[in-house]
Amino acid sequence: MNKQTIVADTIDMVKEKLNNEGSGHDWYHIERVWKMASKLAAKEQANSYIVELAALMHDLIDDKLVSSKDEAVQEVEYWLEGAGVSSSDAERIMDIIQTISFKGGNGRKLTTLEAQIVQDADRLDAIGAIGIARCFTYAGSKGDVIFNPELSVRESMTEKEYREGPSSAVHHFYEKLLKLKDLMNTETAKQIAEERHAFMEDFLIQFFNEWEG
Ligand code: ADP
Ligand code: NI
Repeated sequence: MNKQTIVADTIDMVKEKLNNEGSGHDWYHIERVWKMASKLAAKEQANSYIVELAALMHDLIDDKLVSSKDEAVQEVEYWLEGAGVSSSDAERIMDIIQTISFKGGNGRKLTTLEAQIVQDADRLDAIGAIGIARCFTYAGSKGDVIFNPELSVRESMTEKEYREGPSSAVHHFYEKLLKLKDLMNTETAKQIAEERHAFMEDFLIQFFNEWEG
């Protein structure tokens, strides 16, 4: 099986799986991450085949989407084998999606350029105009308001507290989105992040101007 066919088959499989996904991990999030990751791979001279497959599958084992992470991991492994991905490539891809799904927590550092690129592409989709839109969508689905001046910004918290505790969409900017620019791994992503970051800062200035009347 050639690599192009494997990528095309992976796209079909992921689209099918994420059909009706409502938590901000719909196919179009995956498509944006995949395209951005491909672009970063070309600029950073990474292995684009590994990057593309890992980007396409990066959310398939996310515990927000699956009931059993172990089963989801096994399913992806079977799928890669069936699709004709060599075992050494499959191992590299699994390593990337498993490390990334730890959400930067657990202290596992990304050791390969390909993993860094997929993480950068995922993070770039959380900032800028699209990041703002995703943030308000997520907050709405979780029952949070757009902003609540009585809440404080939660500086240190566990992933669970952060995800489930009461917050507001605007608080999420301070808790996460404004920090992402400095967490980019690659030079190319850092440059793209600058403009998206500036756009969020402008948005917040306008937001608070309107809030205060
Ligand atoms: P991914 O799986 O793509 O890395 P997450 O699952 O962490 O991203 O979040 C999905 C989207 O929802 C992101 O755009 C993120 O910024 C946003 N989000 C996550 N948690 C919150 C929250 N507590 N309030 C508002 N938006 C959130
Ligand atoms: Ni994602």
